[in-house]
Amino acid sequence: MNATVVPATADAIERAAAALARGSLVAFPTETVYGLGADAANPDAVRAIFSAKGRPADHPLIVHLPDASHLDAWARGVPDGARALAQTFWPGPLTLILPRTPLAGDAVTGGQDTVGLRVPAHPVAQALLAAFAARGGHGVAAPSANRYGHVSPTTAAHVADDLGGRVAMILDGGACAVGIESTIVAFDGDLPLLLRPGGVSVDAIARVLGQAPEAGTAGAPRASGSHASHYAPRTAAFLVDARALPTELLRLRERDEAVAVLARGVARPDDFEGRWIAAPPDAEGYARDLYANLRALDAAQADAILIEAPPGDAAWTAVRD
Ligand code: TXA
Ligand code: MG
Repeated sequence: MNATVVPATADAIERAAAALARGSLVAFPTETVYGLGADAANPDAVRAIFSAKGRPADHPLIVHLPDASHLDAWARGVPDGARALAQTFWPGPLTLILPRTPLAGDAVTGGQDTVGLRVPAHPVAQALLAAFAARGGHGVAAPSANRYGHVSPTTAAHVADDLGGRVAMILDGGACAVGIESTIVAFDGDLPLLLRPGGVSVDAIARVLGQAPEAGTAGAPRASGSHASHYAPRTAAFLVDARALPTELLRLRERDEAVAVLARGVARPDDFEGRWIAAPPDAEGYARDLYANLRALDAAQADAILIEAPPGDAAWTAVRD
């Protein structure tokens, strides 16, 4: 394991907060995926995130806060619906896109007039954000801690694979419990818009708001995570219907193609040669393991990855995305 990976002890968290305050980059666990953090109010520190990730600098970042009391430092004109969502789901896997205050500069917002805010629930993230706030910090900007275009990291080792050597410190807090990114909700006036499905279900949001968020459309704020290629592994991956999977395996075998499979219900054929992962059958377990499974299949260096298509019902929306 990389030398920058350190167990997230109280002492390590203090050192990480000090590193953030100096303008350095620190990777840390959240309940969704690992984040690549920098002082959100320091434009130079924020710019270092983009060069470490190799990400275009006009992509806005999420600012992570220790608790909802910091919301009004970053956002103004907060709709009642947004406050209700914050109260219900923070700390947790929900990001709110809101009109920014001057504290949210162009570096962190990609020049948009809105800012993304979230209070993560992971105890290490909470402790780090509290320690950073105790040093006078206002919030930590953090995209997922992967190189641009790679699968998001759900362990410290994934972060080290992608960014080792490019960050001051990687706090190891174990595997992420949710495993997929936060749900992103924006507001057009009072109208809620879903920009990215994620750890909080659309149903749960609809129950709080009394209406389901509409799909965010062009003209609405951008969410780069909704590009199809954003989460793509390097090996070509194909979604295959459970019923079609056996035939597809035979077809590729006849063409002598090496195949890696992410199955869910379909059993591994006795004569299958290659990497076969049987994913958890439930949506939560499937999401938790998804990115680690995709990394493992990618590492198998097959000619193709076949993914058994997940179910079509609402519980699986964020996974399918
Ligand atoms: O679960 C998560 O959200 C993780 C953890 C680390 O918190 N973070 C994460 O960050 O997924 P990132 O940068 O990989 O994805 C954030 C998404 C991007 O697609 C970005 O475009 C969108 O949030 N976003 C951020 N601020 C925005 C804004 N002001 N308007 C529209 N979209 C915004
Ligand atoms: Mg990302």
